[in-house]
Amino acid sequence: MCGIVGYIGTKDAREIIFNGLKKLEYRGYDSAGVALVNKNKIEIYKDKGRVNHLEEITDFSFNTNFGIGHTRWATHGKPNMINSHPHFSNNKRFVVVHNGVIENYKKLKIEKLADYDFYSETDTEVIANLIEHYSSDMSTIDAIRKTASILEGSYALLVMDMMDLDTLYVAKNKTPLLIGKSEHGITVASDSMALVGYADSYMYLNDLRFAIIKKDRVILKDILGFDLDFEMQDLKLTNLDIAKGNYEHYMLKEIDEQPGVIRNLIDKYFVDEEVNIDSEILSKIRLADRIYIVACGTSLYAGTVSKYFFERLCKIPVELCIASEVAYNMPLLSKNPYFIFISQSGETADCITVLKKCKKRNLHTLAITNSLNSSIDHLADDVLHIFAGKEIAVASTKAYIAQIVVLSIIAKGVANNRKTNLKNNLSKVALAIEDVFNNKNLIKEVAKKIVNAKDAFYIGRGIDYYVCQEAALKLKEISYIHTEGYASGELKHGSIALIEEGTPVIAICTNEETNMITRSNLIETVSRGALGIVISTESLSQTSDDIVISDVASYLTPLVSIVVCQLIAYYVSVLKGNDVDKPKNLAKSVTVE
Ligand code: F6R
Repeated sequence: MCGIVGYIGTKDAREIIFNGLKKLEYRGYDSAGVALVNKNKIEIYKDKGRVNHLEEITDFSFNTNFGIGHTRWATHGKPNMINSHPHFSNNKRFVVVHNGVIENYKKLKIEKLADYDFYSETDTEVIANLIEHYSSDMSTIDAIRKTASILEGSYALLVMDMMDLDTLYVAKNKTPLLIGKSEHGITVASDSMALVGYADSYMYLNDLRFAIIKKDRVILKDILGFDLDFEMQDLKLTNLDIAKGNYEHYMLKEIDEQPGVIRNLIDKYFVDEEVNIDSEILSKIRLADRIYIVACGTSLYAGTVSKYFFERLCKIPVELCIASEVAYNMPLLSKNPYFIFISQSGETADCITVLKKCKKRNLHTLAITNSLNSSIDHLADDVLHIFAGKEIAVASTKAYIAQIVVLSIIAKGVANNRKTNLKNNLSKVALAIEDVFNNKNLIKEVAKKIVNAKDAFYIGRGIDYYVCQEAALKLKEISYIHTEGYASGELKHGSIALIEEGTPVIAICTNEETNMITRSNLIETVSRGALGIVISTESLSQTSDDIVISDVASYLTPLVSIVVCQLIAYYVSVLKGNDVDKPKNLAKSVTVE
């Protein structure tokens, strides 16, 4: 959940590290720090707060070609200066930045480091001191490998050694780390975004890999210390792919990109009218007697919508699994289970835990990710990408849409159903989303009505209820209004007690079968003081409805109604003056369990 960047070469390390950290802030942004080589010294600057603040407190007066940096999402210890990375070892020989969590750090402190002093509450200081401890009678890389062999948990580590200021050491297990190369030097980072502009090629490090990095070469080693061959791939990502353009926030840019994302997926996954997905994947799913969808947050809610597709179109039952729950409480499996993992980042620790357990049991696994070469990509038997482009705003929008589109195409491929003209229906969805954009002013009016609410509800039934769950998550995470997505009929079984004068209740009515009954449930709340708001489709609309979306195939309405809800959340957050792209307490990539 943290971002790390290191550089060794002939260019200004400070510039590369700061630019990289700014791009990685989505991974965590409660504190930041850098360690920079200044002649024969290592200087550390760190503090609570964002990378911009770090820039203000860092000395820019000296030249530096070697350094490491970190942007933190606190796991062990409060976000404050002391707990910020980098951390020195006791004798100040080693400096470490770390992304991940060391589960046995307390035990290691007692058993191996009883004579050492600790200044922070972090698990990272234990790593720095273990390296120091072992380095007394072995080389630095051996001390790092020895340390890694007793660490339980996840780490991407960058290590500097005061005794050798021409070498950067790295170690990786269960949390991402990439090494990028260019003519002027080597850049190491948690995400390829930080390499853009500074590397032409890169490699993704596998677990339990270690590297000794000089400004012009990389020596890759395994946990036993053997040298390994490796290949670098071309870095295709460009600054244009990750630019905010004229937008004030990435979130709005990403919302606006959604019609294009759908059209791109149509191109990728259809040849004429036929689904273009590896037939082996489709055959494996056809043989399943139950599909288990494992994911977290927004990705889980995308999976929820696909339950509708697989059950109605393919007649295969679907069980939704919250990754963090099934990680330690696997459901009783059917005879021929098939597991689909959905993860935008491809790095979500809870999903990785379940995926590893599935692999141990030889269960079929398919990953749906937005991140080529991510950990989940590497672990799953099969992978399908959602090609949404980098999603930088912490609140996921275009990934949700793309995940649902890919899942709908898989379901069509599995069902081999020629009657549903999915390709054409998806094209209509892209147009309907553009119609929503023409109504942004109306959506802003809705946002104004709810901006001061303490609590809010989204209600709906069936497929609309599935959207309500995601809509509520969007509103709560960026507006900080406590919001629940509720099955509209369930409200009166308890939660209606929370309705007060003016509590916004937003009903999503896009389904003919449930439209009227959802509206009745809304009226029940309005009679108790709620502020009723309706999002409906053209064919089901009533004159007083607040937002009316264009008609699309009934099973695809979530792709359009959610865009209205994303925009409501966005405008409320803007009206409240919140940091839309980096909401409090969150990080984009949740690499800790
Ligand atoms: C909410 C959001 C999160 C993620 C969740 C899973 O807007 O983005 O709920 O969906 O953390 O992340 P991925 O999809 O990367 O596994």
